[in-house]
Amino acid sequence: MSVSFSDLSGSSVVTGNPLSIAPMMDRTDRHFRYFLRQITRCTLLYTEMVTSAAIIHGDRDHLLGFSPEEKPLSLQVGGDDPAQLAQCARIAEDFGYDEINLNVGCPSDRVQSGNFGACLMAQPERVAEAVAAMQAVTRLPVTVKHRIGIDDRDRYEDMTAFVETVASAGCRHFTVHARKAWLQGLSPKENRDVPPLRYDDVYRLKQDFPHLFIEINGGITTLEQARDHLQRVDAVMIGRAAYDHPFLFATVDRDFYGQAVEPPTRQAVAEAMVPYIARWVGPQFKLNRISRHMLQLFNGQPGSRAWKRHITENACRVGAGPEVILAALPETARSPFSLALEAP
Ligand SMILES: Cc1cc2nc3c(=O)[nH]c(=O)nc-3n(C[C@H](O)[C@H](O)[C@H](O)COP(=O)(O)O)c2cc1C
Repeated sequence: MSVSFSDLSGSSVVTGNPLSIAPMMDRTDRHFRYFLRQITRCTLLYTEMVTSAAIIHGDRDHLLGFSPEEKPLSLQVGGDDPAQLAQCARIAEDFGYDEINLNVGCPSDRVQSGNFGACLMAQPERVAEAVAAMQAVTRLPVTVKHRIGIDDRDRYEDMTAFVETVASAGCRHFTVHARKAWLQGLSPKENRDVPPLRYDDVYRLKQDFPHLFIEINGGITTLEQARDHLQRVDAVMIGRAAYDHPFLFATVDRDFYGQAVEPPTRQAVAEAMVPYIARWVGPQFKLNRISRHMLQLFNGQPGSRAWKRHITENACRVGAGPEVILAALPETARSPFSLALEAP
């Protein structure tokens, strides 16, 4: 299907956020996001993928609840039913999310058996229908995260046919994981490493669809790389490197968003988590649900190993609270504040 650019010419280039941290199951939960917000206020954050069925039938507050500090925040949904997805879009808006994003990139068997995720790249009309249904009921931007291809549908033209069709339904923001996915034979983890990265396809997509907001994703590990990509595309999404090196983002509010702020110190980030942790921990909630996301704060720094060991060994104890975090701070990162709080 081909869509004339005149269909889209009414809209100028969408202005959006140049940096985001990728949706990651079991990682980008509300506690990791709150922790990241102590490092960067401006970067767009995503939830983990939540299925449309879970949103509709599950414990919504548990699945969708977030702290206002986590904004700007996008809810990523997985699903293929336009009516259900529309319902989710309305719910996302009611909850206060800033964007709703459809997952068209996950290759797991479970997701394929539900006919969503990456296998939807073979059904662009269905994705377009879903986007149109969502846009009809919400003012939130509806965005799509996808791959450059799946299986043997991996020519550049296959991707542009997908993007054209989905754009014709009104989607303006595409986040492209710059490698294809093999739906059979590779695990989700292998599908994040084995198929080669093809950044040029994403650059070309931006050239061919200048009116769309094109975000690149996959294998980006430094801010220098992010800056280079931003010469060619509108935004950069970083996943694993953000989890493994969260402090990578310490300078971005100043350097990518022009904010008049100085980067925080790691110690300040840890200390800023103290009141949050104190609010959450209790008989039903162990510290390690939050602290597991903080283990990499000192990655690459002296004392990192001791920080991780102290937290890992103590955070699962019943009754463990913020004092564990403060006691884990490397000597070089202790302040009068943390020493005072640590004192019995
Ligand atoms: C543990 C893990 C879980 C992921 N879960 C999701 C997910 O829920 N939704 C999604 O669209 N992508 C998911 N991804 C893929 C990432 O969003 C991203 O596309 C991928 O990791 C490539 O980016 P990176 O090289 O910067 O990590 C996940 C990746 C990892 C490592």
